[in-house]
Amino acid sequence: MTVNVGLIGCGIMGTDHAAILNRMVAGARLVAVQDAFAQRAESLAARLTGLHVHATPEALIADPNVHAVVVASADDSHAGYVLACIRAGKPVLCEKPLAASNDACREIVAAELAYGKRLVQVGFMRRFDPGYVTMRDTLRSGSLGKPIFLHCVHRNKIAPDYITSDLVIANSAVHEMDVARFLLDEEFAAVTVISARASRLSSQRQPQFVVLETVAGVVVTVEISPDAQYGYDVQGELVCEDGSMSLAPVPNVTLRKAGHSGFVVEEDWRTRFADAYRLQACAWIEAIQTGRPTGSSAWDGYAASVTAYTALDALKSRQRTSIHLEARPALYDQ
Ligand SMILES: NC(=O)c1ccc[n+]([C@@H]2O[C@H](COP(=O)([O-])OP(=O)(O)OC[C@H]3O[C@@H](n4cnc5c(N)ncnc54)[C@H](O)[C@@H]3O)[C@@H](O)[C@H]2O)c1
Repeated sequence: MTVNVGLIGCGIMGTDHAAILNRMVAGARLVAVQDAFAQRAESLAARLTGLHVHATPEALIADPNVHAVVVASADDSHAGYVLACIRAGKPVLCEKPLAASNDACREIVAAELAYGKRLVQVGFMRRFDPGYVTMRDTLRSGSLGKPIFLHCVHRNKIAPDYITSDLVIANSAVHEMDVARFLLDEEFAAVTVISARASRLSSQRQPQFVVLETVAGVVVTVEISPDAQYGYDVQGELVCEDGSMSLAPVPNVTLRKAGHSGFVVEEDWRTRFADAYRLQACAWIEAIQTGRPTGSSAWDGYAASVTAYTALDALKSRQRTSIHLEARPALYDQ
């Protein structure tokens, strides 16, 4: 069965999703697009063949030729489109965040529970990155014993002007929050945030250091440096009872030039996680075809949201702050 996909939001991420679905995923075909800025949808349709441009997201979701939907529009529009997809009984891959508030995430979870099966996958693509998948598989094999620390580093070359200290946590650290839950398979109990001094490049945001404690007592540290200058760099080391494992640099060549030997550092997340985005799309289409959902669920989207908003509270209060999640419904048991 070929899955016909409709895309809402034809900006940076939407254009990448379109290219991946059209060229790299067997069994998928992009058939329809929509963007609040119509010219963007039309220009994408002019570059790819066979695309219908819809005037509204509602029309795209209702289109009988659209079997499944990718939501890559602005953050605060996600929840409404995801709820409309659930009402229409259509699978949806929603870019992170699932919604712009914890309440909206709860509403989506409630709608999915009422529908009776999982339709929502959240675009936390790191769950498909080969490095993180190997770390999770190795941890699950038991060969390294129990986890003790997870150290995460998330550095951007230079963040856009609109990025504030809050967004450093809500937009960047949230990826670590989701992937830590994926690796460790447990929830967080508390969070503390320490701000470092601002780089001379931006006075409106500070690098942040987030310390998360899981229910079982694993300590997760996250350094987020929005203006690291040298490139986009994501690191992860999981320290366990009987050893540790770290993400290896992704480039598979060593460069020697002008007295230096080393790896090239990626410019941004799209190249660093290119494999993860492609594998995420392949897994989403396969999940639709087989009826076996995968990836980050609506519940994971809710958990990431609660964790990120509690971290924002901790940033303001400068206090260690408890994280409270509701009990996970059986629909989301792995
Ligand atoms: N998974 C990741 O690693 C990752 C990385 C970057 C961005 N994102 C998320 O992806 C989404 C898109 O980000 P982007 O960088 O492509 O932004 P962008 O601004 O380049 O693109 C967003 C597009 O959506 C359109 N749009 C905005 N509101 C809309 C609405 N209500 N209905 C229809 N179209 C609307 C805009 O006109 C624009 O073309 C955001 O939610 C962002 O947080 C995820």
